[in-house]
Amino acid sequence: MLERVLSLRSRTTQANSEEDVDDESKTRKTLSLTTRFLNQLTKTNFLWPSLFFFLFLLITSIAIHSRNIVCDVSSTGLIHSRFNFFGIDGLDSEFGLLGVPWCRSKHGKTVEWTTKDLIKGIEEFVPVYETRPIKNNMYGMGFDHSFGLWFITRWIKPELMIESGAFKGHSTWVLRQAMPNTPIVSLSPRHPEKYLKKGAAYVDGNCTYFAGKDFVDFGSVDWGRMMKKHGVTDRSLVLVFFDDHQNELKRLKQALKAGFRHLVFEDNYDTGTGDHYSFRQMCDQFYVRGGGHSCFKDGDEARIRTKRRMFWEKAVDIGELCGEGEAWWGVKGQMRDDFNHSNKAISYNEHFQNSRFVESVLDVYWELPPVAGPSLTHQTRYDPARVSSPIVEDGRFGLFQRLGLGSLETSVFNGYTQMVYLQVSKSSS
Ligand SMILES: C[S@@+](CC[C@H](N)C(=O)[O-])C[C@H]1O[C@@H](n2cnc3c(N)ncnc32)[C@H](O)[C@@H]1O
Ligand SMILES: *[C@@H]1O[C@H](CO)[C@@H](O)[C@H](O)[C@H]1NC(C)=O
Ligand SMILES: *[C@@H]1O[C@H](CO)[C@@H](O)[C@H](O)[C@H]1NC(C)=O
Repeated sequence: MLERVLSLRSRTTQANSEEDVDDESKTRKTLSLTTRFLNQLTKTNFLWPSLFFFLFLLITSIAIHSRNIVCDVSSTGLIHSRFNFFGIDGLDSEFGLLGVPWCRSKHGKTVEWTTKDLIKGIEEFVPVYETRPIKNNMYGMGFDHSFGLWFITRWIKPELMIESGAFKGHSTWVLRQAMPNTPIVSLSPRHPEKYLKKGAAYVDGNCTYFAGKDFVDFGSVDWGRMMKKHGVTDRSLVLVFFDDHQNELKRLKQALKAGFRHLVFEDNYDTGTGDHYSFRQMCDQFYVRGGGHSCFKDGDEARIRTKRRMFWEKAVDIGELCGEGEAWWGVKGQMRDDFNHSNKAISYNEHFQNSRFVESVLDVYWELPPVAGPSLTHQTRYDPARVSSPIVEDGRFGLFQRLGLGSLETSVFNGYTQMVYLQVSKSSS
C-alpha cells in the first residue's frame, strides 16, 4: 500500500514538472487525477497537513531507495544519473512507457513457455554461451538474441534448421548447440570460412552452405528439393532464422510460399529505426495497444522522446521519427530493404494493409524480452520505454548473479533489438 502511494506520488510529481500542456497525452489521466486530488485537498483544508505527510514519505522513500541503488547499481555515474533523471521509482516502471506494439495473431494464441521456463533456460544457457568460439561478435548477435534463438529452437525441436545471414557463423553455432544432431542449411553471400583467416569464425560440419560463389537468396532456393534431400516431409518441422536485414514482409511471403511455419527474425526494429521493414513497424498501428504515433512537436510524445534520446542510443526523437507530411510509419514513411540499400516510400494505407495481411497469417507472435534490466546489464542502447519488461527485472541483482549473468562482459548485452518468433499459416487454413 505504502509502495503504491509512493510510486503514484513520484510519478505524478514527475508528470507535473514535465508536462504543462494538456493535449493527447499518455500521462493526461494521471495529471488530471492529481489536479483533481489537489483541488479536493485544498477545498477540504487538508492540503498543508497532507503535504507534510507526503514530504515525510518522500524522505523515507529516498532513504529506502538509495540503499537499494547502492547495492544494485555499479558506481558508473552515467547509470546513476540516468535513473535519477527518470525518478526514484523509475527503475522498472519505465518499461513500455512509450508503448510496445504487437502483431495480433488470428486466434489470440500465444507461446507455451513461461517466464519460469525462460529463467531456467538462461541458467542452462550461460555456461554454453561461455564456450562460444567467437568471443567478439560485433555486428552480429549478442547474449540476448543468442539466448532467444537457442531457447526457441530447443523448444520447437525442428527436423531442419535454415539460417539466412550467417556472418562469421555465431548463429550457426547457437543453432548447433540447441540441436546437436539436426541438419542446418545456411545462406550467406560470404562464406563464414572466409573469416577464419582473420580470426574466430564457426563452420559447421553438418551444414549445407549456400555461400560464397554458391550463394542463393532464400527466395530463390528450390525448397522442395532441399526438403527431399534432407528427408523432411513435414515443413512445419522446419525452423527458419532470418538475420539478413531484408524487408520482413518480403521474407514472410517467401516463407509462406515455401510452406514454413516457424520463423525467427533477429532484428524486429522499432518504428523510425533500422535498415529494413520489420513486423514491429508493420504492427505499430493506432488500433493496436501501444501503437501509433503523434508527430505533434509540442506533444507529450515529442517531449518524452527528446529526453530519452539523451540517455539511450537507439531512442529516436520526434524529428527522427516523423518525415515529410508527418509520415511516421516504417522509417519516416519509408519501407526499407536490404540493409537500407533499397528504400521505398509507402502510403499509410499501404502500411496499414501490410499489418492486416500479417495478422491474417499469424498464429503466434512473440517478442523476446530483454534478458535483464539495464541497471543490471548496464546496456545503454535500447530504450526501455519501447520494450516489454525484462526476464530478470531491474533490482533482482541476486537472481542476475545466481543465473551467472554477472560474470559476462557488459558488451554482450548491447545488441537487443526485439528478436521475434512467428508461427504462421496461410490465411485459408
Ligand atoms: C548481421 S549479419 C548476421 C549475423 C549472424 N547471424 C551472427 O549471429 O553473428 C548479416 C549477414 O547477412 C548477410 N546477407 C546479406 N544479404 C543477404 C541475403 N540476401 N541473404 C542472406 N544473407 C545475406 C551478410 O553478408 C551478413 O553476413
Ligand atoms: C553429422 O551428424 C551425424 C548424425 O548426427 C553425426 O553422426 C556426424 O558425426 C556429424 N558430423 C559432423 C562432422 O559433425
Ligand atoms: C538510409 O537510406 C536513406 C536514403 O534512401 C538515407 O537518407 C539514410 O541516411 C540511410 N540511413 C542509414 C542509417 O544508413
